[in-house]
Amino acid sequence: MTAKDISPTLGWDDVYIVSTRDGSDTLFSRTHGTLYHSAFGAVSESKHVFFQQGLNTQLDKPMISILEFGFGSGLNAFLAYLFSLNKDKEVHYTGIETSPISLDVASSLNYPEYLAFIEEREIFLRMHRETSFVAESFHFQRIDQMVHLAAHQKFDCVFFDAFAPGAQPELWEQSMFDVLFQLLHPKGCIVTYCAQGEARRRMQTAGFQVERLIGPPGKREMLRGMKT
Ligand SMILES: C[S@@+](CC[C@H](N)C(=O)[O-])C[C@H]1O[C@@H](n2cnc3c(N)ncnc32)[C@H](O)[C@@H]1O
Repeated sequence: MTAKDISPTLGWDDVYIVSTRDGSDTLFSRTHGTLYHSAFGAVSESKHVFFQQGLNTQLDKPMISILEFGFGSGLNAFLAYLFSLNKDKEVHYTGIETSPISLDVASSLNYPEYLAFIEEREIFLRMHRETSFVAESFHFQRIDQMVHLAAHQKFDCVFFDAFAPGAQPELWEQSMFDVLFQLLHPKGCIVTYCAQGEARRRMQTAGFQVERLIGPPGKREMLRGMKT
């Protein structure tokens, strides 16, 4: 890797911490003018959208592989680690992130304390410091672009957690959902907090069987697409 390939990290000039309604932190992106999670509860949203409605559909598999688009604060990655501990399941997590936050910002987020896993704080920070490691049954990888996925790598569940279509419309194009469909194993699923009609139609065009589900606190609906 050359110096040119290393993305600069986001510091306090780029993001600041906001406390959400359930007491967990999120970040506000000054560049995109938006929050990383719902103001109604960052942890509540993550648990509902990505775990209850997403990963829980894959529990019959002995090993689960996750692809997250938008590693961001590392909250979903940390919850995926806790999921592997609680369920005693091998989890392979790959997060894509063009603009990682600095270690200083990451260490100011309250997730380990909020989730009452203070002793796991080091794992949370490791996700921001290192691009790959293995901790017990959890295999972590963070890359900056989808093209850096290993050839033929496939996943059971995609956490599609890009900024909303209004902030980054280019990430919600048809080509994105076409690629994500190809990256899933049969019976795999994609979940997103977004319930927009255009996103739903594009997921359907890509080949997903899409359901509108009850959303997290403060949001009526969310989307889940199954690769049947
Ligand atoms: C809604 S936030 C993700 C929140 C995250 N899942 C979490 O648990 O904190 C969206 C993320 O997508 C990242 N992003 C923006 N453009 C991207 C791109 N082209 N490829 C990968 N990540 C991108 C942003 O930097 C931001 O961290």
